[in-house]
Amino acid sequence: MSHNILMPRIMEVGGGALDRLPDVLAALDVARPLIVTDRMMMELGYVDRVRELLAAAAIPTQVFADTVPEPTERSIMAGVEAMTGGLDDGRTFDSVIAIGGGSPIDSAKAIGVLAHFGGEIRDYQFPRQAERAGLPLIAVPTTAGTGSECTRFTIITDDTVDEKMLCVGVGFMPTAAIVDYELSLSVPPRVTADTGIDALTHAIEAYVSRKANGFSDHQALAAMRLIAPNLRTVYHQPDNRAAREAMMLGASLAGLAFSSASVALVHGMSRPIGAFFHVPHGMSNAMLLPAVTRFSLDNAPARYARCARSMGIASESNTDTAAVHLLIKELGALNRELEVPTPGEFGIDPDRWRSALPTMAEQALASGSPGNNPRVPEVGEIIELYQQVWQSVS
Ligand SMILES: [Fe+2]
Repeated sequence: MSHNILMPRIMEVGGGALDRLPDVLAALDVARPLIVTDRMMMELGYVDRVRELLAAAAIPTQVFADTVPEPTERSIMAGVEAMTGGLDDGRTFDSVIAIGGGSPIDSAKAIGVLAHFGGEIRDYQFPRQAERAGLPLIAVPTTAGTGSECTRFTIITDDTVDEKMLCVGVGFMPTAAIVDYELSLSVPPRVTADTGIDALTHAIEAYVSRKANGFSDHQALAAMRLIAPNLRTVYHQPDNRAAREAMMLGASLAGLAFSSASVALVHGMSRPIGAFFHVPHGMSNAMLLPAVTRFSLDNAPARYARCARSMGIASESNTDTAAVHLLIKELGALNRELEVPTPGEFGIDPDRWRSALPTMAEQALASGSPGNNPRVPEVGEIIELYQQVWQSVS
């Protein structure tokens, strides 16, 4: 049996990688990129830095900075208009540069595909696959989290029905990724924690997924080894360069892992929390990770035990039973130390939470991700897990 592995054609990895952007464009034979980003990246000066780099290489560009957190269909269509409108001198764009966290990169993926192939984003919703690559996309992540620079996925919210649509395929895999941890040094602690747990969740879910394979296993285990010992460090010491570098690399490796192995129940249940209550993606993963791991581990104890060992919280001499016990303990402790709130502490109204649960559970199942979980839940079990998470996230 073979496995379909997709990767960016070029990856430039390490401190200062951003300076190589003009060379990456030249290698891809593109010279008229649209920069897709958000207001925060403009304020932090990253967009000016990129424009200066490109200007020095005589590369014309324009900026679309109106991507939003948890991108919606409407926000994407504004980007598609900017893309199809072309440069002010009348020439067309031939590529997209995405700069930012997961939202600008996910937005750029959708904009690139829609501007090239047409249609609406819901035309690309899973299980349909975007089987052809669109215009070259160069992804520049500024957070160590989503791994979107290395995945064949994008998530766009249908705001008419509060549903996060998962879109999958070659068309959503960036052509190049510039993974420069120095861009993550200014990320504030809350976002650092949320995105870091997202990356850890990608690695764990890829490793226990029913679609795990030899390639994804190695990427996932390497990602856990890099992320787990450094997550607390980057939360408490934002300037710790070695820890930031390890997290950035770990997040990209976790992205590669789940791009071929998929994610599982945590992500399936996390997306509806984001769509209904606007909890940041990594934070809702963190809320769910301990409870979903407890629910799932009897169906894959050896796999969860290996996660604990790769994370450095159990040793080879621990039995699988002891190792998974340590894993559960660690996931709870991590949430406490990173100050992950319960849904109620986040500010969600208990009545709205309760009444949304059946729809959230249906959406979670429909996304397909719970089907990859070691223990595949029924609707009622998903509701029960949501109720547990309301009580405690550790
Ligand atoms: Fe994620």
